[in-house]
Amino acid sequence: MMALMTQPSSADLAALLDRDSAQAELFDLLRIPSVSSDSGRKEAMGRTAEYLRAKLAALGFSARVDETPGHPVVYAERLDAPGKPTVLVYGHYDVQPEDPVEEWVSPPFEPEVREGRIYARGATDDKGQAYAHVRGAELLLAQGDLPVNLKFLLEGEEEIGSPNLEPYLEAHRDELGCDVIVISDGSRFAKDVPTVTYGLRGIAYVDVLVQGAARDLHSGSYGGAAPNPINALCEIIAQLKDEQGRITIPGFYDSVEPLTEEERQMWAELPHSDEEFAGSIGASALPGEEGYSTLERIWGRPTLDVNGIWGGFQGEGSKTVIAAKAGAKVSCRLVPGQDPDDILRRMQEYIPTLAPAGVQVEVRASHGGQPVKFDLGSPFIKAADRALERVYGRPAAFGRTGGSIPIVADFARILGAPVLLVDLGVNEDGLHSPNESFSQEDYFNGILTSAYLMQEIAAAGKSE
Ligand code: BES
Ligand code: MN
Ligand code: MN
Repeated sequence: MMALMTQPSSADLAALLDRDSAQAELFDLLRIPSVSSDSGRKEAMGRTAEYLRAKLAALGFSARVDETPGHPVVYAERLDAPGKPTVLVYGHYDVQPEDPVEEWVSPPFEPEVREGRIYARGATDDKGQAYAHVRGAELLLAQGDLPVNLKFLLEGEEEIGSPNLEPYLEAHRDELGCDVIVISDGSRFAKDVPTVTYGLRGIAYVDVLVQGAARDLHSGSYGGAAPNPINALCEIIAQLKDEQGRITIPGFYDSVEPLTEEERQMWAELPHSDEEFAGSIGASALPGEEGYSTLERIWGRPTLDVNGIWGGFQGEGSKTVIAAKAGAKVSCRLVPGQDPDDILRRMQEYIPTLAPAGVQVEVRASHGGQPVKFDLGSPFIKAADRALERVYGRPAAFGRTGGSIPIVADFARILGAPVLLVDLGVNEDGLHSPNESFSQEDYFNGILTSAYLMQEIAAAGKSE
């Protein structure tokens, strides 16, 4: 408590926030097209990492860019709060591809403000949210010292499943040691409801390839007799869920941790309306697994979605053809209890058994990520709750999220520290969509949230 009293107040910090320069720097970052999945953007990846390194160095951090077999990691630390907790902030500077680019009102890598929102790819996921912590540190430093020992780990491969970060964590385990890991890389429950997120779904992603005849065929000369891989693929996909919206892969639900009555109750009390939710995405209904509410379906139940499908003629007009090949990208979101490798194996075993005669089906594993769920009793959760209340004037809601951050399970396992997910955006930001945005208010509040959170963690003290 004593320590907290000597720390700058909310008002002092808010008064020091330089919104113009915070926004200008975020714009610099957003202008760099750091699409990790695009091999043509390698130079942009390095430039983004260097921008972040230079900024953290200018703030007095010892900062470096570490090469990996893939995109570089930015690591920075400022350890001048002896006896205080050490906080590791994780974020990612890579972004999703900008397609479909024609649907953007302003170009994806030319950030622009319209009606209080910053539009650009990565505005909320995750450049804006990650940079809020960099500026949060700057704000604290403008008033004196950092109240905690602070480390930043900013990676460039989150959107492709963080393939090189696990070995990086293993190799730098001691250096990355910390009392708590803070991540802002998601959406809070609603605009006026600050949220502490205590669970993420996992993921198991596959490519399904279907081969029919050896070449494309005239659909008049051969139709009715020849195998059609597109029809076959549709038949296969149609069998992956039953009428109740349950996934038919044998054993899929065997190890799923059921939701507790307590948790279902807590979620049922959150201010959610199906009608508004459907309206917010422009959908006329919310199909899903029978027997579960919308929040339960998204946060606490596994699912399967086709994310892409290809085959046959896509051009203008019509072409009478039976394609030789077709394919689909299929992913399952997983919940605690499920293991991505186990689910990938089950998908690879089961999907080919659904193939009708005349086609060959191959299921290639693409990537996986473990689901996670955290203990709500930790003192850091309370620190986050207090920090959010200082910003938003109301206590936080506790919920899980349906998205995945694959490295989080490895953080807990390798670094042995609790993870705090403090989401600064909202769903309307349109993560991964065209016209992704971050409201200016959320960005500036995010900077304050970061600064207050470090103070509250300092006040909570070190974990033993
Ligand atoms: N920031 C998201 C994860 C997220 C999304 C959390 C929505 C909470 C709400 C992250 O960048 C992401 O997109 N993750 C991918 C992981 C995948 C590529 C392995 C995801 O969830 O699809
Ligand atoms: Mn993200
Ligand atoms: Mn993302």
